[in-house]
Amino acid sequence: MDRDPRSSLATRAIHGGAVPLVEGAPVVPPPVQSATFVGGGPDGDPDLLYTRYGNNPTQRALGGRIASLEGTEAGVGVGSGMAAIALAILSLVEAGDRIVSSRFLYGATRSFMDSELPRRGVSVDWVDPWEPGSWEDAVGPGTRLLYVESPVNPTLRIVDVREVVKVAREHGIPVVMDATFSSPANFRPGEHGVDLVIHSATKYLGGHSDLIAGVVAGSGERIQAITRLLHLYGPALDPHTAWLLDRGIRTLHVRMERHNRNALELARWFETAPEVTRVVHPGLPSHPDHRLAAELMDGFGGMLAVELKGGGPAADAFCRALALATVAPSLGGVETLVSLPRLTSHRGMSRADREVAGIPEGLVRISAGIEGLEDLKEDFARALGAAAEVADSA
Ligand SMILES: Cc1ncc(COP(=O)(O)O)c(C=O)c1O
Repeated sequence: MDRDPRSSLATRAIHGGAVPLVEGAPVVPPPVQSATFVGGGPDGDPDLLYTRYGNNPTQRALGGRIASLEGTEAGVGVGSGMAAIALAILSLVEAGDRIVSSRFLYGATRSFMDSELPRRGVSVDWVDPWEPGSWEDAVGPGTRLLYVESPVNPTLRIVDVREVVKVAREHGIPVVMDATFSSPANFRPGEHGVDLVIHSATKYLGGHSDLIAGVVAGSGERIQAITRLLHLYGPALDPHTAWLLDRGIRTLHVRMERHNRNALELARWFETAPEVTRVVHPGLPSHPDHRLAAELMDGFGGMLAVELKGGGPAADAFCRALALATVAPSLGGVETLVSLPRLTSHRGMSRADREVAGIPEGLVRISAGIEGLEDLKEDFARALGAAAEVADSA
C-alpha cells in the first residue's frame, strides 16, 4: 500500500518505503547511530554494512521514502545537494564525454560543470532551454546526458522537461534534473520520464533549515552506480541527519500547501504595491511560464521575487527594515527567508550579465515560510516603506 503509486503523496510522505510494524515495535524507528555493524567474519554475510556505504538501516529507510515519493525504483540520501549533483553526473560520464546542460543553474552546479568536469576530461555544451530546438541542436555523438534545473533561481522560469526527455529518448541518453525548488509535492520529474531526480534536501524536504543533505531518485541500477561512487568519494549522510530529514519529509505535504499559498498570496499583494516594479512568481498570469506551470505542477511553489523601484539601495533598505523575515541565503524552511541575488547566489556574475539573466540590482528573492500571512504582510509593508524612502530621495 505504501509503495502503491496510487496512494496519495501525503500518505507516501508518511508511510512510503516503511517496513510493516510488528507488535511492540517503535512507531518511529530510532536513528541507528552506528558507523559499523557486526559482520565480515568467516561465517558472515559477504555484503558488509557500513555507514559510508549508505546501507545503514536509517539511510536505507530514507532511500525507500524518497523512492516512494518520487515514484521511482530506488533512492539514496547523501551529504548535501552538491554531493547529490556531483555523484549523479559522475556516475554517468567518463573522460572524453560531453554533457548538454541548461545554462540556468544554481551557482555551485555551474562552477562544478565549468571547473571540475573539464578536469576529468568532460566538457559541457550550454543551451537556452526556452529556445526552440536548442536541446536537439546541442546533442552530438559524445553526449552522455542532458542536465536541467527547474524552477530556475531566482527568475522561477519553468523548463518543459517533457521536451528534454523527448530529445534524450531519441538519442538513448538519460536526463538528470535538479527539482529542488518545486519539491516532490509540486512536481515529480520521474513521472515525465526524467531518469535521475535530484534535490537539495537542505531545502523543502528537510524543511526546517537545520540540516544539510541531498537525495537522488531513479532506477535501481542508476542509484547503485551512485552508491558505488558514495563508497569511493565518501559524502555519506550521517544517520542522525538522515533521521531528521525523514522526520521533515513526513510533513512535506502540509508544509508545501502553506508555502504555496503564502507565496501566491504575497505575490498578488506585492503586485498592488507602488514601490514594486515587477513581481516574479509562476502562479501569476504575468509570469512567462504561468501556463506551463499550471499544466505541469501541482502547486506554484513557495518562492517569489520582487523588483523594487530604486534598485540596489532600495533593496538594501528593504532588507534592513525587516523584523520578522530573516535575511539569509537558502530557502525552503518553515521561516521566511529573504536574500539579494546580487550579493548571494549570483554575486559571481557581472552586473551586466545579471541584467541579461533577468536579475537586476533591485531584485529581492523571498522564500515564503509558513508563518501567518498577515504578519508577513505587515513586515513587508514596513520594508517597502523603507525602500520607498530611499527610492524617493535618490
Ligand atoms: C537549486 C539548488 N540545487 C542545489 C543546491 C545545493 O544544495 P546544498 O547546499 O544542500 O549542497 C542548492 C543550494 O542552494 C540549490 O538552490
